[in-house]
Amino acid sequence: MFITMLLAISFIGSTLRTTYIRDRNISLLTQVNILSNQITPNFYGIQLENTRTYLQDLIKGYSLDINARILLLDNNGTVLIDSYDAMLGQNFNALTEVKSALEGYDSNQVYSLPSGENVMYVGVPISDRNEVMGVVLASSSIDDLLQNVNLTLKRVALLSGIGLLFTGMVAFLFAQVIASPIEKMIQLVRSFSRGNFGVSIKIEANDEIGQLAESFNDMASKINQVDEQRRKFVSNVSHELRTPLTSMKIISETLLHQPSWDESVYREFMQDIDGEVSRLNRIVDSLLYLVDLERDELVLETQITYLNYVVQNVVRNLKPLADQKHIHIDVEERDRLQFHMDQGKIQQCLINLVSNAIKYTPENGKIRISIYRETTDACITITDTGIGIPEKDLSHIFDRFYRVDRARARTTGGSGLGLSIAKQIVTLHGGDIQVSSAINTGSTFTVRLPIRYSGVGA
Ligand SMILES: Nc1ncnc2c1ncn2[C@@H]1O[C@H](COP(=O)(O)OP(=O)(O)OP(=O)(O)O)[C@@H](O)[C@H]1O
Ligand SMILES: [Mg+2]
Repeated sequence: MFITMLLAISFIGSTLRTTYIRDRNISLLTQVNILSNQITPNFYGIQLENTRTYLQDLIKGYSLDINARILLLDNNGTVLIDSYDAMLGQNFNALTEVKSALEGYDSNQVYSLPSGENVMYVGVPISDRNEVMGVVLASSSIDDLLQNVNLTLKRVALLSGIGLLFTGMVAFLFAQVIASPIEKMIQLVRSFSRGNFGVSIKIEANDEIGQLAESFNDMASKINQVDEQRRKFVSNVSHELRTPLTSMKIISETLLHQPSWDESVYREFMQDIDGEVSRLNRIVDSLLYLVDLERDELVLETQITYLNYVVQNVVRNLKPLADQKHIHIDVEERDRLQFHMDQGKIQQCLINLVSNAIKYTPENGKIRISIYRETTDACITITDTGIGIPEKDLSHIFDRFYRVDRARARTTGGSGLGLSIAKQIVTLHGGDIQVSSAINTGSTFTVRLPIRYSGVGA
């Protein structure tokens, strides 16, 4: 803006100067021409006293009127009359204006005198029938004019300066308004990168900065959630692994301090250790399976499969377990459903659900599995007459390591990963699992799989 201002001032200055000088020039030339026309008829009689006095008065009068010094020169360039009476007899034939005038042309020029004064010279010929008899030479100061230009420029500069200051202040304030939320954000992002994940930016603006803050908050809350889950997961895993390890430690220490060598005692203790090792194995296997399911790059190995066939497989596999507890499994196939699925994984999911139903149903209970189609979904419900799940636990049972009754889990041997795995498998197929339950009456798990999810319908 400052540069633009300087350029504008210099442009205005030079334009004003040129215009003013041209106007002054035209007016001076016009006046001197009028004077020259008045002098012409009297010029022959300049030697006469009367005529000379008349011309002197005329020139002096004009000189006062137009505020210029006026010289009347003969055709050699010698001064005949000077309005200031000072240069009589001096010769000016070397002056450009005089030369041009003697050749019959009007001419003019602006000079800067050594005194610092700026003057405009105008030379006009006095001619009769193409013969130049003399010259009227006028010189007029143009300092007043230049002063006017300077004054105007000073005013323009002052106004521009005030404008510049004002604009600068507005720009500064505006920059502050924009920069302050960004500063705030930078601080929060820094604190975030130091591990303080709980931060959020409070900027309520509808502009890009507001959107940036909103996106940052979304990102921060997601990272916070993931971090929270990670902590919980690590603590759960450690806890789950420690329980069997602690048991084994106690058993082995007891064995070590056993004074007598009784084989049956050793055998019993070793069986306990073996049980704990199997439990550890199961937990680690389930964990690895779950971690594998949660890989980002996991691709389902889908192929067209009969759901009914998968369910029959599961029931056949788990029948011995159910028989042990005299639990009857009833399968109701209302529809025959065939669609794209990862058979191995769906089978694992159903095994987890049905084995839960067996595990959490007392002896002589009943389990009913129904397969049917509902609009575009394949549904499987697994209903048992088991112990049920308390209302407050229903929303948590799909969480990793969550078990309703931890004490009982010791005897039933669960790790609390079965339902997480089942849910993850169903989610990968684009479906969902729901549960309803009543204490001591039984539970119903409903799995919904979209038939068209992977293309081919039933
Ligand atoms: N059919 C059911 N009836 C009653 N409670 C159930 C049933 N299914 C699941 N639960 C409850 O939900 C909890 C979580 O089930 P999940 O299958 O994830 O773990 P688990 O059976 O304890 O262990 P795992 O299946 O990993 O061996 C169980 O501990 C149990 O308390
Ligand atoms: Mg289970």
